[in-house]
Amino acid sequence: MRQTESLVACVEASRTFGSGPGAVIAVHGTTCEVPPGARIAITGPSGSGKSTLLHLMAGLELPGRGAVTWPALSGVAAERAREIGVVFQSPSLVPALDVAENAGLPLVLGGWCRAGVPGRDLARRG
Ligand SMILES: Nc1ncnc2c1ncn2[C@@H]1O[C@H](COP(=O)(O)OP(=O)(O)OP(=O)(O)O)[C@@H](O)[C@H]1O
Ligand SMILES: [Mg+2]
Repeated sequence: MRQTESLVACVEASRTFGSGPGAVIAVHGTTCEVPPGARIAITGPSGSGKSTLLHLMAGLELPGRGAVTWPALSGVAAERAREIGVVFQSPSLVPALDVAENAGLPLVLGGWCRAGVPGRDLARRG
């Protein structure tokens, strides 16, 4: 990862669900940048588009308008998947796993888990 560039950059990003009179504009023209290592909070009332914006930032959904890019990453999808993880609002945690194991699950599933990182015990459980 190139530390001098934004990890995520949204430029006038929008996401609309449905079409016609029933269309829902979940994210409307959002512009923001997230530097590597930054801690940010997205706040707003229920239904204001927080989760949809996170999905756009993670590359899980595509903006209907505008752009979401990852300047600090190479542009290779595998690198984005390794560097950007999402804990979904619902369904979310695996009940049988503890917090560290849940957080480390993508590392195990992605084959990136190694001794000393969260999720290592999960790999042992097979
Ligand atoms: N897959 C979808 N299909 C249709 N509408 C959707 C979809 N996902 C979200 N929406 C709608 O988009 C709007 C924003 O939803 P979103 O889940 O992003 O809001 P939120 O801020 O995360 O809400 P909450 O605080 O309740 O989690 C809502 O009106 C929601 O009903
Ligand atoms: Mg949400």
